[in-house]
Amino acid sequence: METVKVETKDRSYDVVVGPGALNGLEGLVADADRVAVIADKKVAGLHGGRLRAVLDEAGVDAAWMDVPSGESCKTLEWFGRTQQFLLDAGCTRKSVMIAFGGGACGDLAGYAAAAYMRGIRFVQCPTTILAHDSSVGGKTAINLPGGKNMTGAFHQPIGVLYDTDLLRTLPDVEVRSGMAEAVKHVLISSKKDALGLLHTMELAEMGEEELIRLIVRGIRVKADIVGRDEREGSVRKYLNFGHTYGHAVEAAAGYGGITHGEAVMTGMIYALILSERITGAGRELTDALQAFAEKNGYPLKEISSHPFDGLLGYMKKDKKASFGDLHFVLLPEAGAPEVRRVSEGDCKAADREYRIRTGVEPE
Ligand SMILES: NC(=O)c1ccc[n+]([C@@H]2O[C@H](COP(=O)([O-])OP(=O)(O)OC[C@H]3O[C@@H](n4cnc5c(N)ncnc54)[C@H](O)[C@@H]3O)[C@@H](O)[C@H]2O)c1
Ligand SMILES: [Zn+2]
Repeated sequence: METVKVETKDRSYDVVVGPGALNGLEGLVADADRVAVIADKKVAGLHGGRLRAVLDEAGVDAAWMDVPSGESCKTLEWFGRTQQFLLDAGCTRKSVMIAFGGGACGDLAGYAAAAYMRGIRFVQCPTTILAHDSSVGGKTAINLPGGKNMTGAFHQPIGVLYDTDLLRTLPDVEVRSGMAEAVKHVLISSKKDALGLLHTMELAEMGEEELIRLIVRGIRVKADIVGRDEREGSVRKYLNFGHTYGHAVEAAAGYGGITHGEAVMTGMIYALILSERITGAGRELTDALQAFAEKNGYPLKEISSHPFDGLLGYMKKDKKASFGDLHFVLLPEAGAPEVRRVSEGDCKAADREYRIRTGVEPE
């Protein structure tokens, strides 16, 4: 079992990663007057028995609520239902809530914990690879009809129990999605390892130990950055590498049309092309990332049905774009991210270049 410490001004907590990590739950709920679970419905079906067994063993009779699986739970309606559920369950400020599912369920449940009685304690029990990113760092949010993650709060969990046994049931598409964020964490933090990793890693061949190593590595990068900048005033912005264009592709495809991580993979290749243009970065890293993505089945041609002007509209609406200015995290080289303001002309040229390099008919 690996433990990574997250230390922020608000709270310090452990992220415990490995097979059987859920067994650590007892200690986290020991002094709670009531325990409530908010679970992704699909995950509850697959692994709910395991969580119930741990709670039974600890002598905890928890209230339980299933929410729709994936992104469809991140709505105002389901947020409202979580609040009523916590009240009906008799939760107080001394209670602990458990979020059991991927990033979507964790985002909803985290926001529910942040809001209920102005904030109760919660534990993240992530069940996807992507959630190695989302469960750490305290960002919580739901979607509004007009935009993704538009209402939310910073609310750190009291602990993260990342039981890697639960990852075995993940479909390939979710493995791809989560691994994109793991690759992101390496690209923004290590000059030494980025190329080697891209040249050698094959998702279909990856064993459990290698997977755990990468997840732990990603969590360390995230924990370090969040520890230095909890509220995204400075270095936390680097975690948005690949996300400006990626979010636009995700939105244009319709949420759920392509997974978050798949869209981010496209966004990272795009950001590297921009880096070549603007910072004079060499092409080696871009080519290696593109080859990695192609070898592992990432849908790089999804953008063929989305003209640049549409994507630009989404990029300008991105909440990280201040008043319509376009900012990107660029990588002059692996491990050395920087935030740059980029002109529409450069954005368009990079979009065209992306289409040419990935074999999409340019507009
Ligand atoms: N808060 C943050 O810092 C942050 C960071 C990155 C992403 N996010 C959010 O995370 C969400 C994406 O998270 P995600 O990729 O985990 O997707 P997800 O939560 O939507 O889960 C994807 C699918 O996998 C299923 N699933 C979950 N665990 C499973 C398991 N063990 N076995 C089989 N199926 C399983 C789910 O039911 C769902 O259908 C997005 O809403 C994104 O905005 C948040
Ligand atoms: Zn992301």
